[in-house]
Amino acid sequence: MARPHIMFVQTQMIPWSKNFYGNARTDVEFKMLSQDDNDGSSTCVIRYSPGWSRRTPEHLLTHEEFFVLDGAIEINDRLYEKHSYGFLPAGYIRDRTASYDGAVLLTMFYGVPTLGLVATTTTFDPKLLVEYVNPLAMEWDPGLVDPQLSRGVAIKPLRTNPYTGETSFLYSSPPHRTPPGMAKPQWTHPMVEELYTIEGDYVWGDLGRMQRGGYCWWREDIYHGPAGTDTGYNLFVRTINGPLVNTFDTVKKPFSWNPTHQPILPLELAPYGQPLPPTPNY
Ligand SMILES: [Fe+2]
Repeated sequence: MARPHIMFVQTQMIPWSKNFYGNARTDVEFKMLSQDDNDGSSTCVIRYSPGWSRRTPEHLLTHEEFFVLDGAIEINDRLYEKHSYGFLPAGYIRDRTASYDGAVLLTMFYGVPTLGLVATTTTFDPKLLVEYVNPLAMEWDPGLVDPQLSRGVAIKPLRTNPYTGETSFLYSSPPHRTPPGMAKPQWTHPMVEELYTIEGDYVWGDLGRMQRGGYCWWREDIYHGPAGTDTGYNLFVRTINGPLVNTFDTVKKPFSWNPTHQPILPLELAPYGQPLPPTPNY
């Protein structure tokens, strides 16, 4: 079935696993965040051990999108350091891949990660390729944010699929962004929205305090919120099945800085639904 609604799980609570599905990355450790049984697509955190490498050319039969959470990985002599990003379409050849000191990547496969037959002349769709983005060299753009959302937030675009409008971007908020009067309508989207909390706290009035490592697969037309942030945050956001559209309810709901922790999780993630212990700054 399609992927279930996940709002939200702290990745830190999920243990590392071995024996990754497909035949392309059988020698990594991973945490599965969400997986579609029908098309084989998934979102996971992959850990490449120090010295991991592929010395001969290879390509996948599916797209691979990634954001480096920690460490660094080298693909075709380009070093992807912490917080860099790539979207490598199906058929894109990796002549050499290596991680010298290890790396942890948030990774999205668009199907089962299967190796293609060895060939030096595969083709890929160049319109989908985003070979390398270094967000640290980009400016935050508040002009890209939906004007329905409150001011102060900003975006760094990573890619937009020219055929579907599906998009991936970083979304940041400064601290102390509070719903006015501590109440605001909930909202949703007609497409799936995937979120990974890179840093900071994102407080859901209805779900609890999502902290760094928090992950969501927000299904279509399910209302959540209101939300606020005391610390500020930096999120990786991806839309699935269409461009980003926000739909707001009309009824205001109350917001609190200490909402009850009550995530909505599928059976396979339910054992890992605990909140992160707080980490005081004093
Ligand atoms: Fe959204």
